[in-house]
Amino acid sequence: MNKIKIFDTTLRDGEQSPGVNLNFQEKMEIARQLEKYGVDIIEAGFPAASKGDFQSVREIANTIKGCSVTGLARAVKSDIDTAWEALKGSEEPRLHVFIATSPIHMAYKFNKKPEEIVEIAVEMVKYASRFFPVIQWSAEDASRSELPFLAHITEEVIKAGANVVNLPDTVGYTTPKEYGAMFSYLKENVPNIHKVDLSTHCHDDLGMAVANSLAAVENGATQIEGAINGIGERAGNAAIEEVAVALHTRKDFYQSYTNITLSETKRTSDLVSKLTGMAIPANKAVVGRNAFAHESGIHQDGFLKNRSTYEIISPELVGVQQKEVVLGKHSGRHAFRTHLMDLGFTLQDNQIDSLFEKFKDLADKKKDVTDDDLFSLVLQKTVNS
Ligand code: KIV
Ligand code: ZN
Repeated sequence: MNKIKIFDTTLRDGEQSPGVNLNFQEKMEIARQLEKYGVDIIEAGFPAASKGDFQSVREIANTIKGCSVTGLARAVKSDIDTAWEALKGSEEPRLHVFIATSPIHMAYKFNKKPEEIVEIAVEMVKYASRFFPVIQWSAEDASRSELPFLAHITEEVIKAGANVVNLPDTVGYTTPKEYGAMFSYLKENVPNIHKVDLSTHCHDDLGMAVANSLAAVENGATQIEGAINGIGERAGNAAIEEVAVALHTRKDFYQSYTNITLSETKRTSDLVSKLTGMAIPANKAVVGRNAFAHESGIHQDGFLKNRSTYEIISPELVGVQQKEVVLGKHSGRHAFRTHLMDLGFTLQDNQIDSLFEKFKDLADKKKDVTDDDLFSLVLQKTVNS
């Protein structure tokens, strides 16, 4: 079994979600919960971006002891100096320094030739290693970079002192097959690749961030970056809770494990949703309101006979407490009877039959039939008979 490190960027890339602006207390509350949740690394912010970011990264670095704290820096000395000032109080400070490697970014953002980009990356990694014990280097827009160039610059930054190499799908453009192939290409073509952790960082523009992250794990990645509830720039980042539950549920396939305390999943997700003001869609995997609700009669019947017929993740695993069987117009007699028994009613078959008809009439008018509705139905029936 391989350990996969979880790098949480809810407080940096996640906070880049349009409309989200967390204050210092809120960031600290989230950082504490992330520590409890068991992430390996918290990216607390971008210290050079603003005074507020600097202060919150510094406080989080000084307070959080259960995991490593990092901050983002562009490949410029002043950003690295500011990041060191913010992070030096951490038990395990690490720098996250990035530079773009795709032809389009190198030409239009920097107006520089590829070899000049290699020089800057190497110089900045060397500079940062004077202060930081751990350096993560990211090749921004890696998935649209030319593979031989990506392999070349990766080898050079490793020789310069990088400990983690992160290969972002910055614009959420890649497919699982392509993204996985990029990791295997680097594994084969970078002589010193065995010295570093290889990391994923996927955006969800085409809805493939989680699938891409997992494809990278199949091809040698040992760290996954993402944000709680998948928040982040544009369509967001890979959702940490989905990645963690997928690795757990399909450990037979991925042969990997994480340090995540899965029972803290719901609490972590709810906190991030509340503080960012970003609602969780009802059908969202793992943490959505409907993720464990079975409405159709056929599903409810199978589920009541044996949960595994329609349930691959138990709600308890991720800290969810709710009724899995929701009574509605698609529910069958079996679910109806079981529900009444759970409420304490033991009824004869003929009583169930006539109540079931009334229940169906009601369910046609109402989306969900609640326990109160059922009590009224049974009481009316008893009074009238
Ligand atoms: O998406 C991206 O490329 C990033 C980098 C700064 C790591 O967020
Ligand atoms: Zn990003």
